[in-house]
Amino acid sequence: MNHRTAPPRRRAAWAAGALALATVLAGGIAMSTSAQAASDTLGEAAAESGRYFGTAIAGQRLSDSQYTTIANREFTMITAENEMKLDATEPNQGQFNFSRGDQIANWALQNGKQLRGHTLAWHSQQPGWMQNMEGPALRQAMLNHVTQVATHYRGKIHSWDVVNEAFADGGTGARRDSNLQRTGNDWIEAAFRAARAADPGAKLCYNDYNIDNWSWAKTQAAYNLVRDFKQRGVPIDCIGLQSHFNSGSPYPNNYRTTLQSFADLGVDVQITELDIEGSGQQQADTYRRVVEDCLAVSRCTGITVWGVRDSDSWRSQGTPLLFDGNGNKKQAYYSTLDALNAGGTTDPTDDPTEDPTEDPTEDPTFPAGDCSADLRIVNSWQGGYQGEVAVTAGSSAISGWSVTLSGGISVSQIWNGTLSGSTVSNVSWNGNLGAGQSTSFGFIGNGSPPSAGSLACG
Ligand code: G3I
Repeated sequence: MNHRTAPPRRRAAWAAGALALATVLAGGIAMSTSAQAASDTLGEAAAESGRYFGTAIAGQRLSDSQYTTIANREFTMITAENEMKLDATEPNQGQFNFSRGDQIANWALQNGKQLRGHTLAWHSQQPGWMQNMEGPALRQAMLNHVTQVATHYRGKIHSWDVVNEAFADGGTGARRDSNLQRTGNDWIEAAFRAARAADPGAKLCYNDYNIDNWSWAKTQAAYNLVRDFKQRGVPIDCIGLQSHFNSGSPYPNNYRTTLQSFADLGVDVQITELDIEGSGQQQADTYRRVVEDCLAVSRCTGITVWGVRDSDSWRSQGTPLLFDGNGNKKQAYYSTLDALNAGGTTDPTDDPTEDPTEDPTEDPTFPAGDCSADLRIVNSWQGGYQGEVAVTAGSSAISGWSVTLSGGISVSQIWNGTLSGSTVSNVSWNGNLGAGQSTSFGFIGNGSPPSAGSLACG
């Protein structure tokens, strides 16, 4: 799928230009404040350029109000740090347990966040029964796991880390040896195909660490995987660069080249587990450079840090995050926020001086073609139900859609769509659909479920 980044920055840039012009025309004295006020949270600042800013969340910390206050205030994208992994979701073969994953998903969605899914297939954190499997039985079990978990979260996930860490470290660029790899070299593409079938609306990512330095063999190996998948039509939408930086794996000066090179293959680039060991100015400068690099690449669509406070980090000794153990904003927080507020590229073809209302075909929020919408009832209970609407582009690509909820639908909660009155519009990342392509949004409805079937889409 080809999802473009959202337009807010472009609108803001146009508004800024218009206001500057108005100031000149009025003969006013330019003040040091810019027309576009700086945002004071990471999530808002990132949204100015159509991007998200996320964090990993650990379920056992959701009872800590300092933690949830910061997480809710600052971040717009949530990844479950451990709760959607294989050992958590399928502790016994064929017996799925989504309670821990759902706790994170519900917290995120109830607070208006988007969700990254982490992770469907990985050599690590496998449940014991899977660790002991090999060959065709393991392949089948892995595919069933992908299908069941992606189906459970269908309609709620912005992006899935379908496969995690499949390449070896070092200079060979080889696949990592694992029980999954030994089922056959095609295990990765099999996992991606199963994920696409189970949740067609989610972006599908390959995620790894030490693929940040363009000259490293592991980076080239991941690049070649994505290129091969794109060439052969294996479904892949994004590359996740974990970006755990420390002295052994430092931020590389060619990071922007890496981001741009992956983007040039036609996938989104997501920084998925960012943490930077260190302190003070050095750490702040590195965070700033990471943000600047992402903002310079139009398909670098968001950044997630791997935890909230230093004390929440898997590498807490390295104090690698943006808040200290007392929840105070660090120097790195301010450099990150400043870099986000400085803005960046959304789409290189955009002309920031242009009024976006003048040319509807250039603005992603204006529908450019027909679509259809189909409602299905996923689940219902006394007094409520869960609905899912599949939105499909017609014979030409569309760059935005809106669906009218008719038949007395009353919505109490919605995800992957924005509700205004009875109209649901695309969110920033699911408005662009090629001819015949689909996405979906979900909602919780009040009362009795309506009949499934077609809804108006335009
Ligand atoms: O919750 C149990 C606790 O009950 C028990 O007493 C304790 C004893 O060891 O373990 C606790 O579970 C730990 C869990 O983190 C929660 O803190 C596990 O042992 C520990 O292995 C697990 O570590 C996680 C690690 O993945 C496992 O591979 C980290 O939290 C998590 O941050 C880390 O995340 C990975 C990404 O998934 C992939 N990329 C690298 C990244 C960092 O390693």
